Amino acid sequence: MTKQGEIAIEFTHVQKKFSGKAVIKDLNLAVPANQIFVLVGPSGSGKTTILKMINALIQPNGGEITINGKKITEYRVQDLRWQMGYVLQQIALFPNMTVAQNIAVIPEMKKMPKKKIKERIETLLAQVDLPAAKYAERYPRELSGGEAQRVGIVRALAADPPLILMDEPFSALDPLSRTQLQKLVLRLQAQLHKTVVFVTHDMNEALKMGDAIAVVHHGKIQQVGTPREVQLHPATEYVARFFADTQKRDLLGATLAEIITTQAAQKIEATPAKPVAAQATILDVSGQLSMGKVIYTQDEHGNYWEITAATVLQFLTLEERKDQIDVRKEKV
Ligand SMILES: Nc1ncnc2c1ncn2[C@@H]1O[C@H](COP(=O)(O)OP(=O)(O)OP(=O)(O)O)[C@@H](O)[C@H]1O
Ligand SMILES: [Mg+2]
Repeated sequence: MTKQGEIAIEFTHVQKKFSGKAVIKDLNLAVPANQIFVLVGPSGSGKTTILKMINALIQPNGGEITINGKKITEYRVQDLRWQMGYVLQQIALFPNMTVAQNIAVIPEMKKMPKKKIKERIETLLAQVDLPAAKYAERYPRELSGGEAQRVGIVRALAADPPLILMDEPFSALDPLSRTQLQKLVLRLQAQLHKTVVFVTHDMNEALKMGDAIAVVHHGKIQQVGTPREVQLHPATEYVARFFADTQKRDLLGATLAEIITTQAAQKIEATPAKPVAAQATILDVSGQLSMGKVIYTQDEHGNYWEITAATVLQFLTLEERKDQIDVRKEKV
């Protein structure tokens, strides 16, 4: 059992080549115990490779990895994997097994008593808002993407491993389910204090989820730090650019509800024919706006608002300026 502040996983001069090409180059990384440690980087940067070296699905060509101070090569593979839950990007439930059977796989292999497994399934399903009475006997095909991914999380937690590996667990989900599951994992973590290695290519998700973040690019660590450190003091030009890009993309994800709280939008008295839901994002309506259409939305008090391309442009300008001011304030 690891304590707060201890190092759970350590990479020392690790390298990995695929067909002669170095994908991971001289990786040195210490993952603290009982925290969420995020690996963030673009596609192909080597995140999954790093994660799979932790559970020995991939063997390094050089260097050393230790788990709780013991070399990975000194563990029996089975013992190693039994202390790790693994949540994959693609929803990977067994299609011919029910939710309960899917969750019970590892606990049964570990010979946990049947009664205890049943109790554990019920408790965990309740924690992710999937009451066992309703969901335990369903098959994966009878679940939504978000529900299936929640079952995936429960399955990783079922045998109570101290370490959880999560490889882009939410990237296949719509923004709303994604936000819900991020909150869910943070809520669970506040109770469970597992050592979590969380992979994502989304900087916003990294900032939200990570106690610490490591930015990976071309198989090298660019920077390790708290979200605040990485955000305010990017160590390399690459990290700074990664942030700038994320912020721009983030603005396009702003909702109409956010726009109408600023001075940019105009309230109207008439009742429009087809108002757009206030939860729609700039990206959702950008097609209509760029064709010169005027769109309408309704706030929670029942008032209607008019939104044009000019409104959005003004909103984006206002937000951009606000960001600059925020950053300047932080630096003072
Ligand atoms: N088994 C393999 N054989 C050959 N090349 C591989 C293999 N696995 C991964 N690679 C290569 O190694 C590099 C890193 O891959 P990896 O899967 O670790 O990236 P990633 O950061 O997880 O990307 P993504 O965000 O797209 O999942 C890529 O260039 C990939 O093509
Ligand atoms: Mg990957």
